[in-house]
Amino acid sequence: MTTRFAIILAAGKGTRMKSKLYKVLHPVCGKPMVEHIMNRVMETQPQEIVTVVGHGADKVKEQLGERSQYALQAEQLGTGHAVLQVEPFLKGKKGTTLVISGDTPLLTTETLNNLFEYHQGKNASATILTAKADDPTGYGRIIRDHVGIVEKIVEQKDANPEEAKVTEINTGTYCFDNELLFEALSHLDTDNAQGEYYLTDIIEILKANGKTVAAYQTEDFEESLGVNDRVALAQANQIMRKRINHQHMVNGVSLIDPAATYIDAGVKIGAETVIEPGVYLKGATVIGEECVITAQSQIVDSVIEDGVVVKSSVIEESLVKKGADVGPFAHLRPKAEIHENAHIGNFVEVKNAQIGEGTKVGHLTYVGDATLGKEINVGCGVVFVNYDGKQKYHTTVGDHSFIGSNANLVGPVNVAQNTSIAAGTTVTQDIPEYAMAIGRVRQENKENYAKKLPFLN
Ligand code: UD1
Ligand code: CA
Repeated sequence: MTTRFAIILAAGKGTRMKSKLYKVLHPVCGKPMVEHIMNRVMETQPQEIVTVVGHGADKVKEQLGERSQYALQAEQLGTGHAVLQVEPFLKGKKGTTLVISGDTPLLTTETLNNLFEYHQGKNASATILTAKADDPTGYGRIIRDHVGIVEKIVEQKDANPEEAKVTEINTGTYCFDNELLFEALSHLDTDNAQGEYYLTDIIEILKANGKTVAAYQTEDFEESLGVNDRVALAQANQIMRKRINHQHMVNGVSLIDPAATYIDAGVKIGAETVIEPGVYLKGATVIGEECVITAQSQIVDSVIEDGVVVKSSVIEESLVKKGADVGPFAHLRPKAEIHENAHIGNFVEVKNAQIGEGTKVGHLTYVGDATLGKEINVGCGVVFVNYDGKQKYHTTVGDHSFIGSNANLVGPVNVAQNTSIAAGTTVTQDIPEYAMAIGRVRQENKENYAKKLPFLN
């Protein structure tokens, strides 16, 4: 195989996005566009990758890290000028160079490999990845002569009415003979509608020097969608979401309504899991086999083991172990650990707390900064009082304890195993094993007093 190099163009501001976030960092199915590009590029196994950065250079570098080298394009004078900044890294090296935009996140590795192979097969100096568009507006047009040989690429803004009618578009992805690419770059000028150094002009320059230029047309226009504004961003999300959902269904996951199921790239889901509409699975989430995730649940950066049922709940940075169930309408905040077969019921919030095996926290309860052992029953409306306005305090409850409804456990406090806390008790002292804690005002019944009250009159 010829040595492969790759250049990712990511210096543009993305004016048409009207955003503070740099264009290539806008997410598609949870990952920045340029991250998708980097993953695809790496799968083609180039020897060197150089990313051209400019606007938001630090942020883009932070995202891509050491997977790439970086060329700084201080002023954005066009795509040709961007590639020119890579000269110090690649000029004069033998091999094939893939040039790809940071804003075409849907291109597949298969297509990129096909492009490399087509380029090599044609023994071309340059091969353009093209596609047929129903609506070519905004893209560069591929102009071919009467026998179908590529002559040039004309940008939308430079096209005459005849050229504008052409529906074969430039995807902004190319393979070049690396040495010829850098030779030709020095001949670019800014004599065009946008006053920029167009990379696309390289085609005419190579042809004028008698070099072979080829075009490889992808079957699928959707793949080559260039994201310049938020309309295209929404389209890109939709297309990628469809792909992701399709793959999960092929793997044995049931999606009740795939069009209304939002799963980020990289989320893993086991077979036989059922996912209802309106569910979002985000970030580094992993869902096991035979789970049920009901409507409107949102699960972010969490691990849900096999056989778990999540009913219409929000789960963030948490772990839910085998056979546990959560919800409806529960909120697991960061560092909640729900152990095997535990039950978290409605309107329960858990934060930075371990809920032991088989423990039940059924109703209207807040558990924050706590360690709960096994087989504990937590009544309704219990509050783990963890904050005094300045500091957070930790509470421990031992196995097989019973916490009555409406109890407050004021941390820091240790409740031993096999204890009971009477309903309505405010616990401020440690409770030893086998003790029952009770702390509430004694009840007094005033005989016949109700007769004096308005509701009986
Ligand atoms: C470009 C192509 C067009 C093609 C389309 C495909 C040119 C002149 N036009 O147009 O033929 O149909 O892509 O999506 O190449 N960039 C830089 N530095 C710059 C300018 C741009 O790094 O000075 C980067 C951008 O960040 C972006 C990429 O290059 O990732 C493409 O630039 P963009 O302005 O989006 O080009 P298009 O107008 O879409
Ligand atoms: Ca673009």
